[in-house]
Amino acid sequence: MRKLVNAIAPYLPASWVGKLDHRTRHIRNFFPYGGPMNGQTARAEIVRELIEYCGVERIIETGTFRGTTTEWFAGFDLPVLSFEVMPRFAVFSRKRLADSPKVRIEICNSVDGLKQITEDFSKVTLFYLDAHWYDYLPLREEYLLIREKFPKAVIVIDDFKVPHDDVYTYDDYGPDMALTLEYMQPAFDKFPAIFFPNVPAKFETGQRRGCAVMTTSDELAAIIAARIPLLRKWEA
Ligand SMILES: C[S@@+](CC[C@H](N)C(=O)[O-])C[C@H]1O[C@@H](n2cnc3c(N)ncnc32)[C@H](O)[C@@H]1O
Repeated sequence: MRKLVNAIAPYLPASWVGKLDHRTRHIRNFFPYGGPMNGQTARAEIVRELIEYCGVERIIETGTFRGTTTEWFAGFDLPVLSFEVMPRFAVFSRKRLADSPKVRIEICNSVDGLKQITEDFSKVTLFYLDAHWYDYLPLREEYLLIREKFPKAVIVIDDFKVPHDDVYTYDDYGPDMALTLEYMQPAFDKFPAIFFPNVPAKFETGQRRGCAVMTTSDELAAIIAARIPLLRKWEA
């Protein structure tokens, strides 16, 4: 049935396709990367510890896709807001998470979504930035908006180059479109505290995608440095 849905998808409204995708119950629609956090167990533990030790009060994800990581976030019983630009994926994920009242999935470009947030700026917020797939890379704009508005943000960027471990893979869409420190640099006024996974990629599971962790709070940076040895602070 999954093949059939994909074949007729171009002729149907995206919202119907999202519902049909859900109806297939096909495992690849629900777990396209093997599991939440790309099936990476060390990454999942890093994020779990960030949530515990930083006292995260809500979670904002950019790039919902099939809602796999959104569903994992929902398990923490915190408010979860996720932005997805493709209606097919957003409708699928809304159906998937229909029984999670604290999860909200908005159909929009992530930058517009972040701009539209009007409350709870002072809450400790975990941002999971994963909206990078197409010609337009929103990452720097996302980061600038978060830095401007959220004084207690913990930011995890998926698919980011890990400088000390080439086995971790990252997204590279061409000149000035690779998820690296060089790409991020124009967005920094001063270099923030940046952390990378300390677990060698060969001992990570799943897709072995790199990530970077930042925070807008010196206090939270000190907590991460002191309490999460799974992360290593980057030294220039
Ligand atoms: C790698 S997938 C996200 C995977 C998901 N976070 C997970 O862990 O399962 C990237 C998703 O981001 C979406 N996306 C790409 N650019 C976007 C943007 N500017 N705003 C919102 N969503 C975007 C894509 O449509 C796609 O569904």
